[in-house]
Amino acid sequence: MNIKLLTTNITIVFLCVILLNNLVFAQYNTLWIPDTLTGTTFNLNLHTATKQLVSSGQATNTYAYNTASFWGPTLIMNKDECVQINLTNNLPDTTTTHWHGFHIPAMTDGGPHQPIAPNEVWSPFFKIRNNAATYWYHPHLHTKTTEQVVMGAGGLIIVRDPIEAALPLPRKYGIDDIPVVLTSRRYTTNNQFVTTNSVYGDYMLTNGTPNAQVSLPKQYVRLRILNAEVERAYNLGFSDNRTFYVIGNDGGLLNAPVPVTRMILVTGERVELLVNLGNDPVGTSLDLMAYNAGQPLGFPGGEPNTTGQFGSLLNNTNFSVLHINVAATTSNPITTLPTTLVNNTYWTAADATNTRQINVTGGAPPGTAFTFDNAPYDMEVINQTVNLDAIERWNITNNNVFGHAFHIHDVQFKIVARNNNPASVKNYESGWKDVLYLPRNESVSFVAKFDHFADDMMPYMYHCHFLDHEDGGMMGQFVVTGESICPVSISGTTVTCGGTVVSYTTPPVDSCGVTYTWTVTGGTILNGQGSNQVSVQWNNGATGTVTVEQVAP
Ligand code: C2O
Ligand code: CU
Ligand code: CU
Repeated sequence: MNIKLLTTNITIVFLCVILLNNLVFAQYNTLWIPDTLTGTTFNLNLHTATKQLVSSGQATNTYAYNTASFWGPTLIMNKDECVQINLTNNLPDTTTTHWHGFHIPAMTDGGPHQPIAPNEVWSPFFKIRNNAATYWYHPHLHTKTTEQVVMGAGGLIIVRDPIEAALPLPRKYGIDDIPVVLTSRRYTTNNQFVTTNSVYGDYMLTNGTPNAQVSLPKQYVRLRILNAEVERAYNLGFSDNRTFYVIGNDGGLLNAPVPVTRMILVTGERVELLVNLGNDPVGTSLDLMAYNAGQPLGFPGGEPNTTGQFGSLLNNTNFSVLHINVAATTSNPITTLPTTLVNNTYWTAADATNTRQINVTGGAPPGTAFTFDNAPYDMEVINQTVNLDAIERWNITNNNVFGHAFHIHDVQFKIVARNNNPASVKNYESGWKDVLYLPRNESVSFVAKFDHFADDMMPYMYHCHFLDHEDGGMMGQFVVTGESICPVSISGTTVTCGGTVVSYTTPPVDSCGVTYTWTVTGGTILNGQGSNQVSVQWNNGATGTVTVEQVAP
């Protein structure tokens, strides 16, 4: 090789490096921080939109709530307040809106049984009984959840309460308290989302921002991270392997911060972290990373391939999910780590008075849908009946071919064992949770109390939170039976708390300090004479029907 050729080659290599550098490293976009909505009335409008997600060419068609162009506003709610939601569906498709993690009556839960047709408004109202933590809302229409979430429908909910508010924690939203919603997408050649037959995205979207970067102040910062993926789990850590602190799980703060260098977050799970940037010089940077290379997070042995239904350019690699630039300290920074947080009284294995066994089934031969207990989801079938106020142990066993993410509605649970061993529960998953990582060849046990809300007619869901598994039928339904905290009674034509109504189309959903009354507009109530269905107008103006059964004299 002569000198001239060598120089040319070096120049070409040099140019390529510059090009690569620009393409891969220099193209950060500022992390989008969703707007917040506060108060007790939340008006949400789900609509189609477009967003320029690929740097050149066409914008991507998306779904979004309110003024967002992908995803939706962060709802800030206070524990013990009653909230009214008005959800307008401006999609060309039916949807539902589920309040993931909330302990609310089944008919307000927003699962597959509460469809909202195009141009309709759904107006549930409920009391916030959850602890301060990070929750989320998303569509839950059976067989359509993957598509609607992939298109961008979803949003965070931050619940605040007085106990959390009294702690010295970062809580300036968007400044030292940062929402971080992790997902990824594959695009068609026209820059549109691939919504079917592709479940591991090729490109990260953090809060809907490709190649996201954020400036964070030189002090303790709180990250509220949601895994909003279809399937991919994240093995989270920082690029310099620093220790960070898990302070909250799905349903509330932990008793004390848990130091970690890595933690796994599966689909649907949230975690609140504290990370200390106080020792980082201003102007330096670091990355929140997914250390997914070689991790058997779903697939035995690690994520496969770069192409095909389960392929992805990110599979089996370590990649940045958020580039962090350290900026100047703010006023009133949090500069110390609290040693304790809250004082949770968790259910223990000994509290459980009933045990249920749920088995992962299906999945074989390859391509067959996963199920629970060999029963694909059926909207007409109640798979489990739980007594109101029961404290139950659920054992979820996965002697199957793949890892999963188990989620249950209505309750927050305490994981009491992995493979029957209490010591195998990770410290960072020791708080109140509503989703758990269910690795292959493991059995995970949790204890929960099914209190406050009973409804013989309206089920809650439990399912795999891999959205394609859920849509494919890896979901079951349970009802809670018994007398609710606010049963409805009849005195003449007035409904107040304290008796029995079997069903109703407009809900007296929660006590909320409200006395629900109706005026009969059609039909007659025959006290004590079987089932009577009457048309009514509720005192909130809504009309509906009420079915009354065997009212005690
Ligand atoms: Cu986040 Cu039943 O779902
Ligand atoms: Cu849920
Ligand atoms: Cu699954």
